[in-house]
Amino acid sequence: MIDTKEDIISNFSGNPTFDEVVEERISRRGFLGGVIGTAGLVAGAGAVGSLMNAVPAEAARRGKLGFTGIPTSTADTVTVPEGYSAEVLIAWGDPVSNGPAFKQDGSNTAAEQAQQWGMHNDGFVYFPISGSTRGLIAQNNEYIDPVLLFTDGDAVWDQEKTNKGLAAHGVSVIEVAQRRRRKGRRIVSEWRVVRPSRYARRITGATPMTLAGPAAGDPRLMTSVDATGRNVFGTLNNCAMGFTPWGTYLACEENFNGYFVRGSGTQSVLERRYGISAGSGYKFHVTDKRFRVEEEPNEANRFGYVVEIDPFRPSSTPIKRTALGRLKHEGAWVQEARDGRIVVYTGDDEQFEYIYRWVSRLPWQVARRRGVSPLDDGILYVAKFNANGSGEWLPLVPSNPALAAWTAADIAINTRGAADAVGATKMDRPEWIDTFPKSLTAIATLTNNSRRGTGSNPGVDKANPRTPNPYGHVIRWWYQKDWTEGTFLWDIFALCGDPEVLAHNSTIIGDKYGSPDGIYVAPSGRLWIQTDVSSSTVDTGAYAGFGNNQMLCADPVTRETRRFLVGPKGCEVTGVFVTPDEKSMFVGIQHPGEAPSGSIDPANPKQYSSWPDGDAGGRPRSSLVVITKDDGGQIGS
Ligand code: FEO
Ligand code: CA
Ligand code: CA
Repeated sequence: MIDTKEDIISNFSGNPTFDEVVEERISRRGFLGGVIGTAGLVAGAGAVGSLMNAVPAEAARRGKLGFTGIPTSTADTVTVPEGYSAEVLIAWGDPVSNGPAFKQDGSNTAAEQAQQWGMHNDGFVYFPISGSTRGLIAQNNEYIDPVLLFTDGDAVWDQEKTNKGLAAHGVSVIEVAQRRRRKGRRIVSEWRVVRPSRYARRITGATPMTLAGPAAGDPRLMTSVDATGRNVFGTLNNCAMGFTPWGTYLACEENFNGYFVRGSGTQSVLERRYGISAGSGYKFHVTDKRFRVEEEPNEANRFGYVVEIDPFRPSSTPIKRTALGRLKHEGAWVQEARDGRIVVYTGDDEQFEYIYRWVSRLPWQVARRRGVSPLDDGILYVAKFNANGSGEWLPLVPSNPALAAWTAADIAINTRGAADAVGATKMDRPEWIDTFPKSLTAIATLTNNSRRGTGSNPGVDKANPRTPNPYGHVIRWWYQKDWTEGTFLWDIFALCGDPEVLAHNSTIIGDKYGSPDGIYVAPSGRLWIQTDVSSSTVDTGAYAGFGNNQMLCADPVTRETRRFLVGPKGCEVTGVFVTPDEKSMFVGIQHPGEAPSGSIDPANPKQYSSWPDGDAGGRPRSSLVVITKDDGGQIGS
């Protein structure tokens, strides 16, 4: 599906927008540079200056950028700086273990797809088995493009297509290993997928899983095939991710609403708040009644959660952790607090939605010793940003006076409604969040917003004279002593756009980019930023000259930013992780060859891209790429 989030809005609450908060903060300070300008970070005086001082030099000078930034590109290939190599490790349809091979005409069956790498890979994690040379990669397969998935597109639909579509979703787990070999005079390292592997696994849109937390067992989660409200088939639209200190993977359900189609009857208030209406083009409902809302109204209440998976136990049952809330989760980034509790950050990726934080009640090791999941027992909060540069976490608990009429299950099922009620700040599409562990600083991308809005006019008016935010921004917040504090201070790390075009007001120091999505703090402190400009605007309009989607590296102290990678045509660059030694980096390339508008012609799948297989291939394929430095050094050094 083409990314239509830019036009979706379902938050009609009167809560203030982040845009309003920023404007007020600027007017209070009396100078642009204090908050978002480049000058403020260098010379910001007074209160703002002290805010800046609160962000310690975490990256230290170890994290310096040592490569030459590359230019923008519209080539149908992955481009990296001189001295680096990028190789495809696995692509959609390749077997995860010793299963069937990919058929370039898209004719693999549903049963075959269930043993192959899923479609349109997104966030992932490398779990070491043997340090930096052998490990597991668990990667989300966010969604499908039916035109590429099937030989004949999706005009005709049947049960086999539903089955294959579900099988191409979910999570793929592979074992990967590196070997060094001599190439001429050099020793080169090569990564490969280990086949067969006892860990390899596909989790799909049909895999049995359980529900835990306050919503589990609630009547609103019961369906005609599950009278317990505790068992669900599959996970859908897994976007970004997280991982826990106890070694599990977190896959996050994002745009789950699009699979559920209300064909008749009245849309409920809850359905409206989550955008469940006429669907977004997926056709599973044609053959599978669980996606027909009028027949199975509670099925959609079983999606929109964070799913916990143990990648080292291939027969384990995934668990949807409802305590972390039901929303369009981008990711679920886990940070261990100094007192041993865990904090989980998760953004709700839609225009004017919120940023959330989970804090476990107990230190995670204590909880697990007692047989309690730190993802079930704790408090979910939502962020409020204030114009004085501070912010607070508002607890989403029945004891909050604003939620006096709510139960814990109500909050877990209608998390958005609860956040509306407590007065959270409406953001510009929160995407990934990561942390700088030593400096108690979190960093998040707000990818863009095609609308501006005020509390009284919640952004539904495209003609609103307030300036839209087509390029997005990167924000930070930080604490004084520990991650669990109820208040924080915040600033804007980068307002995106082209710093050489005055009208963009961009505060980037270095190479231009926009629509930041993936963000990742490497162990060295180097900050990696990936872009997801929608295919309808790539290199055109506001994005003319920005080229294909890309990945940049920023120095978190100086904020200098250099372009490191440009993806092939029509792709989004999403998902990045390094090995512990930072000498190998895995990067996800999603939906190469996506149509700029409408859909690809099923008779011509390579209309917009033939990456990665080129002439030998039948259709473009989302892939996981591995990057190494030719001299064996750290990536970005
Ligand atoms: Fe799946 Fe918000 O990107
Ligand atoms: Ca994303
Ligand atoms: Ca995105």
